[in-house]
Amino acid sequence: MKKNRSYALLNSIIINPVNNNQYTLLKYLGKGSFAQVYQIQEIQSKKIFACKVMQLSMIKQLNRYEQLENEIQLYNHLKHENICELIENFTDQDNHYFILEFCNYQSMQELKYPKQSQIQQLTQQIIQALTYLKQNQIVHRDLKPHNIFLDKQTIFMNVKLGDFSIAMYCNESNDKVCCKLCGTPNFMSPEQIITHIKLSQQYNSKIDQNIDKELLTMVNKMQINPQISYQSDMWALGCIIYQLFTGIPPFQADNITSTFKRILLGQFPALENQHANDFVSKCLVVDPNQRQTVEEAQTHAYVLDNILSGVNDWGETHQTISHSQDNANTVFQYIYFTFCRSVFPYSVYCLLQSYFLFIYFQSEK
Ligand SMILES: Nc1ncnc2c1ncn2[C@@H]1O[C@H](COP(=O)(O)OP(=O)(O)O)[C@@H](O)[C@H]1O
Ligand SMILES: [Mg+2]
Repeated sequence: MKKNRSYALLNSIIINPVNNNQYTLLKYLGKGSFAQVYQIQEIQSKKIFACKVMQLSMIKQLNRYEQLENEIQLYNHLKHENICELIENFTDQDNHYFILEFCNYQSMQELKYPKQSQIQQLTQQIIQALTYLKQNQIVHRDLKPHNIFLDKQTIFMNVKLGDFSIAMYCNESNDKVCCKLCGTPNFMSPEQIITHIKLSQQYNSKIDQNIDKELLTMVNKMQINPQISYQSDMWALGCIIYQLFTGIPPFQADNITSTFKRILLGQFPALENQHANDFVSKCLVVDPNQRQTVEEAQTHAYVLDNILSGVNDWGETHQTISHSQDNANTVFQYIYFTFCRSVFPYSVYCLLQSYFLFIYFQSEK
């Protein structure tokens, strides 16, 4: 269908050669580092999905088999309402396909000027996803607005974490694997930068053009544990919330070298919202051992405060291409999410929230 050298060659019907499931290609949704994503419809069920396509030639050329295997394994392992679900994956002679749950709002990058209460609600859901990842000893390592997909259901915006291409199991005995180069400059944690720079020195690989003398001196003086862990995702969470409030990431600079230096210093302009600023400041602590953990984040006042207005906030405007649900379903869904998936003491708090939410919708009728 498409004949563009940088894009996968696709037929208008995609067929899983193993079980003969057939999908019609509907439209192009977006692209990441080396995959393209399309909206598709399963012919038999008429259900809408997203399809992430990777060209086999590109995978071979860039030697990304390991990364592909990694993403398949992780997606298959993960089942959580705040993580994008993998329906199936298969290969034909040209491409590899991930058939994914479709998120009608695409990514958080597309979200323009969210309200404070909306940001708060998104934060709560990202924290749920990160808690689940940590329970499964997984570190995402590339958390950024482009990789956080959104699915809008009437008045509720569901967060779905996606793109596990460089995510890793990160248990104690696996620290070597967790030291690979990873991340996206603006959202990289100090330990990711230090690891990247030290590895490129150690292996004497092509010297990264973004590393200058001053940056090297800074890295050599750093006294922190450079191991990449769940705390690296907490750093990225701080950057994401900051960007939702201001429109730009906290360490944005003219070039990558300057961004890296700013990150290592950990200095950023404060947010006006005090609670949010306190939360972000606790995520953006240079030393990962001093940085707030996901468990601590769950009980931060910013996360616990004011959920009710956030739920109702998503009702207006924007067009979606979704299977629509009524409000009652959405409320039930919300109650289910918060009850079943949260951890004590957050679950008790959620129980109360859900109760007030229920009363609120009763009084709306
Ligand atoms: N399940 C999905 N639903 C809707 N849009 C999606 C979905 N998955 C990906 N996208 C869109 O495609 C983009 C690239 O997807 P991603 O998985 O991040 O690819 P890459 O691994 O190449 O970065 C995302 O930023 C998002 O805009
Ligand atoms: Mg991506």
